[in-house]
Amino acid sequence: MTRVLVTGGCGFVGSNLVATLQRAGGFEIVVLDDESLGSRANLQDFSGTFLKGDIADRGLVRRALADVNVVVHLAAHTRVIESIETPEKTFHANVAGTFGLLEECRRAGIRRFVNASTGGAIVGDVVPPVTEEFPPRPLSPYGASKLATEGLCSAYTASYGMACVSLRFSNIYGPGSLHKGSVVAHFLKQVLALRPLIVYGDGTQQRDYLFIDDLVEGLVRVLKSDATGTFQLGSGKGTPLNELIAIIGRVTGRSLDVRYEAVRTGEIHSTWNDTAKARAAFGFDPRTSLADGIARTWDWFRAQQADGRPLG
Ligand SMILES: NC(=O)c1ccc[n+]([C@@H]2O[C@H](COP(=O)([O-])OP(=O)(O)OC[C@H]3O[C@@H](n4cnc5c(N)ncnc54)[C@H](O)[C@@H]3O)[C@@H](O)[C@H]2O)c1
Repeated sequence: MTRVLVTGGCGFVGSNLVATLQRAGGFEIVVLDDESLGSRANLQDFSGTFLKGDIADRGLVRRALADVNVVVHLAAHTRVIESIETPEKTFHANVAGTFGLLEECRRAGIRRFVNASTGGAIVGDVVPPVTEEFPPRPLSPYGASKLATEGLCSAYTASYGMACVSLRFSNIYGPGSLHKGSVVAHFLKQVLALRPLIVYGDGTQQRDYLFIDDLVEGLVRVLKSDATGTFQLGSGKGTPLNELIAIIGRVTGRSLDVRYEAVRTGEIHSTWNDTAKARAAFGFDPRTSLADGIARTWDWFRAQQADGRPLG
């Protein structure tokens, strides 16, 4: 049995990972989450241990780490725009929180630490495809905080022999993202609420959309590997926003009210990840087409609406 601590396990990625690990068997799961963004209600049929609280609470973290072999660190303040408004909050959760967690892991003798990092927010405005070799140039306190976690992980591997791996996720979408403000979740909620889709710019901007099941499969592969360092995860493709909107139109069968407005300053035009390093190191192999992923996400969002859950 592998005992895994998933910080942020009540969130979008965490709740999907926990469900997959539970289905796979062979894992005892501990979730630590302060429910600031996610909710315990997202962990349906969860039979592991749930601890509610802040990752900066060292005593609580110590309890959460009892007999744990592997840590998957997803807890973070994840809102980019809010990080610009309240950088201190982002620093507390993401940088100080990760440092405290790593320190407790060191004391507890944890050998494997998987850290959630981010793609575009770290590298800034560069010509894609982005590789791990691009020099980091974060554009927001959120991006800077994630870069700091990568630095800490690198130091804990080099200084203490902890096998840390940082994974730079692209734009993740899928079931479980009702509380998210990312583009797919936001647009699907707008469609359900019969509200317009606002595009900043002409819609040619490209992003790398990765379906949650493909990400979770990658996380499980990483858990079982001994890869250390930094890896990018994504679909490996850039999709223009106009193409995403066309797919949403086809999948939902609705006629969409799309409105174009001025570009927002500070926004990256286009980014997508080269994922060759992750493929070579642990066989990362995302397979879900955007059309299939959007269809599965739409079905799930419609079910939430039918259950009366607020769309936000
Ligand atoms: N979803 C994406 O597209 C994406 C892209 C790049 C990186 N990431 C990273 O992946 C990880 C998971 O993202 P997500 O989409 O599931 O986000 P999420 O907001 O759904 O989940 C984050 C979880 O962490 C919890 N949390 C926040 N601060 C905490 C604290 N101080 N102590 C304990 N729990 C805390 C929240 O309650 C929430 O359940 C994050 O680290 C995020 O930065 C996500």
